[in-house]
Amino acid sequence: MRGPTRAAAAAALAVLLAPKPAPAWSARTNYALHCQGCHLADGRETPGLVPRLRGTVGLLAATPGGRDYLVRLPNVAAAPLDDRELAALLDWVVRAFGEQASPVGPFAAEEVAARRRPLVDVEGARRAVLGAPGHGLPDHPSVH
Ligand code: HEC
Repeated sequence: MRGPTRAAAAAALAVLLAPKPAPAWSARTNYALHCQGCHLADGRETPGLVPRLRGTVGLLAATPGGRDYLVRLPNVAAAPLDDRELAALLDWVVRAFGEQASPVGPFAAEEVAARRRPLVDVEGARRAVLGAPGHGLPDHPSVH
């Protein structure tokens, strides 16, 4: 093999052997992979086990306290996604299930970084953000 041809072959081999980047799934697929097992395809409630997303996520996304609660929920905080992917996933969830547009706009990766401090007292945090029952939302399911 002559020089240039050999160099081209080496370059092609390097491309073939390079580690592949992790596939970047769409936000919709990430919902299916990381949320849907519990929250179902349409975000409806499983009574006594999993609260509904429908409607609630729109309210949460509309206030700073609600957004903080949303990104620090244990199963959200621990999703195996980077902050940018998680922000896109949350935007998708708000669009799909929010029922009312979020006046605060899309999630920023910096905002999602609050997941480094996951909630431990989820019920207490929810009460602080959404208020006592009577807010028009179902009470929090017991998950002890
Ligand atoms: C293993 C089951 C499970 C998975 C997976 C899961 N959740 Fe949840 N989710 C729950 C449960 C149970 C609650 C009730 C609060 C708690 O205990 O965390 C909840 C609460 C919530 C709430 C708050 C609802 C409310 O009324 O306060 C939102 C929003 C939410 N999840 C979104 C998501 C998103 C987005 C994902 C994917 C990144 C996800 N969840 C993954 C089970 C799950």
